[in-house]
Amino acid sequence: MEKRAQWGTRVGFLLAAMGSAIGLGNIWRFPATAYESGGGAFIVPYLFALLTAGIPLLILEYTIGHKYRGSAPKSFGRVSKGFEWIGWWQVTVAFVISTYYSVIIAWAIMYSFYSINLTWGDDPTSFFVGDFLTLVDPGDFGGIVPKILLPLLIVWVITLGVLSKGIKKGIEVANKIFIPSLVILFLIIVIRAVTLEGASDGLSSFFTPDWSQIGDPQVWVAAYGQIFFSLSIAFAIMITYASYLPKKSDITNNAFITGFANSSFEILAGIGVFAAIGFMAFQYDTTVGELAAEKGVGGIGLAFMVFPEIVNQIPGLPGLFGFLFFASLVLAGLSSLISITETYVAAVSEKFNLSRVKAVVFGGGLAAILSLFYATQGGLSLLDTVDHFINNFGVALAGLFEVVALTWFAKGLKGYQSHANSVSDIALGFWWRFCLGVITPLVLGYMMLQNLRAEIS
Ligand code: PHE
Ligand code: NA
Repeated sequence: MEKRAQWGTRVGFLLAAMGSAIGLGNIWRFPATAYESGGGAFIVPYLFALLTAGIPLLILEYTIGHKYRGSAPKSFGRVSKGFEWIGWWQVTVAFVISTYYSVIIAWAIMYSFYSINLTWGDDPTSFFVGDFLTLVDPGDFGGIVPKILLPLLIVWVITLGVLSKGIKKGIEVANKIFIPSLVILFLIIVIRAVTLEGASDGLSSFFTPDWSQIGDPQVWVAAYGQIFFSLSIAFAIMITYASYLPKKSDITNNAFITGFANSSFEILAGIGVFAAIGFMAFQYDTTVGELAAEKGVGGIGLAFMVFPEIVNQIPGLPGLFGFLFFASLVLAGLSSLISITETYVAAVSEKFNLSRVKAVVFGGGLAAILSLFYATQGGLSLLDTVDHFINNFGVALAGLFEVVALTWFAKGLKGYQSHANSVSDIALGFWWRFCLGVITPLVLGYMMLQNLRAEIS
């Protein structure tokens, strides 16, 4: 049997797992979700979701990958022949996400360069103006100058280049560069943001708890949804990454470290984003609440419309602030894109006995071609629609299939518990099984029903 590729160091694995987890979800999804779901009070459902579902599931996924040493379909197939399709479901969801995640990173690359001279102008809606979203700008050089095309090409060349170099020389090396750089860039942004005038108003709107929301089931659903997305759970990623762990690896401890690192970055992002929004409110002589209601504080709108507007008004070196912000999006995004793409590269190469490079060319090449569809004017609404269905159904279902299959059927959780305990310092027990076997399936089932109901009404 061919020897399976392995991470070179424990830190290498941890940085790769953090690189996957820390992404656009931390920077533009968490701050908005927390703000809209009780502010400071959101910490209660959020921590509850992290401890009852996030970390327990991460431990389970690490265990499955480590024990069965295969891509997601292969590992699920080794749990039980009948479960291979769950792995393929997850890999498919990951594939679809990679087709538009790559486009968002390409926009961030363009904006990093636009920042330098604030070339986006004064009109925050310029992002939606056709010219920017067209593949080529017909006005320039007889219609042959690529706009989004070049940055998109760069995104895919980096991602596929890293993946073709393999686990240790590719993914591990890339994350060892990306993640420390990301943390440094982001810290600079946050420090600048909190020293802006009005920052404290932003922070107090973000942190002031609205306890009345704690009773709302939707807030709990939002907390679980955030944790799942943010920790890259049920996307086949963590199983794949853990399949390259050496035999002696502290699974449980690694899961806690990944989980807490991701959440710390999320809270840091909340501080940076809301300090900046407080500054903007101060400039406009309005309140954070009104500004948030008018402009929105998350997603593509936050990054490509609200942020440029904030950057325009920053006193002293606005271009640098903008550049650092968009460069952080690029670094956070790329390390996540690498991880999603690896899921199908690994799955395809194992299933069809292809070399890694061939799997990269076929799988990644197809995703790269499909990504072109989002990079146009019409693509933006396509992106919203696909993202909506993937988030509300693809991922929730993938998680539900996974926990139900692994906890209620096949061999049950006891075997995984002893596998994890045999290599870990922290011992798992009844609580771990209870969280996975009872709490998580109930929450995910409820989430599915809620999402379905919202769809129908
Ligand atoms: N966890 C990443 C984030 O927070 C998102 C992601 C989801 C990355 C799925 C890869 C796959 O942005
Ligand atoms: Na995340």
